[in-house]
Amino acid sequence: MNNYILECDQLSKTYRDAAAKIDVLKKIHLQIKPSELIAIVGSSGSGKSTLLHLLGGLDKPTYGTVKIAGKNLADLTENQKCHLRNTHLGFVYQFHHLLPEFTALENVCMPLLIRNTVPNIAKDKSEHLLELVGLKERLQHKIGELSGGERQRVAIARALVADPLCVLADEPTGNLDPKNAEKVLELFFDLQSRFQTSVIIVTHDHAIAKRTQRTFALEHGELVVV
Ligand SMILES: Nc1ncnc2c1ncn2[C@@H]1O[C@H](COP(=O)(O)OP(=O)(O)OP(=O)(O)O)[C@@H](O)[C@H]1O
Ligand SMILES: [Mg+2]
Repeated sequence: MNNYILECDQLSKTYRDAAAKIDVLKKIHLQIKPSELIAIVGSSGSGKSTLLHLLGGLDKPTYGTVKIAGKNLADLTENQKCHLRNTHLGFVYQFHHLLPEFTALENVCMPLLIRNTVPNIAKDKSEHLLELVGLKERLQHKIGELSGGERQRVAIARALVADPLCVLADEPTGNLDPKNAEKVLELFFDLQSRFQTSVIIVTHDHAIAKRTQRTFALEHGELVVV
């Protein structure tokens, strides 16, 4: 086995309906090493979210392979895929996807409870992560009682709480004003270097992309080095 955390080869996705066929991704090849931070830029509709969903095993490719920690997703059952995702990946979605009826603490605990972590340990670890993202005073707030920037920080804490090998972040600063975007981003870089997690950040923002180790652009379904 090689030591790539995440890799894809010939990865292709075509959407079809009665009227049209859209080749969103065309034979994408990408390999992510441990603790590597990369950015993927591209205009709206270029396929960035589609690529992240495929890399995270949340959707199936039309053609090509995705491997997480050396395991080809096509060889796994849904349950095995879920398990692999849960143990190796963290997600920060474009629209955070936190559970609104639950508190910040409960949301961050969730990935650990799914992994059958003892509740007290899950709580301690989640509190620690929320403290690191500056939300020590907001543990018991429901998601609806938090600001946009605070929600995004909860989402980052949730993505990191189960010690993933790689975090897939889709526009993590997309809905924030410049000041909060900068704060969330600093946090991301800090946590990434602290935990040695690989991170793929999808963004419109070329300023973010300048600060990562490698940057790619999605153009006409192809990934090009920037
Ligand atoms: N389920 C679907 N069925 C059909 N077409 C889809 C589907 N999902 C996405 N698309 C199309 O595929 C293209 C890529 O979508 P995607 O969401 O990956 O773009 P994106 O780069 O993330 O855009 P944004 O920056 O606006 O989030 C778009 O043209 C979109 O309309
Ligand atoms: Mg998107």
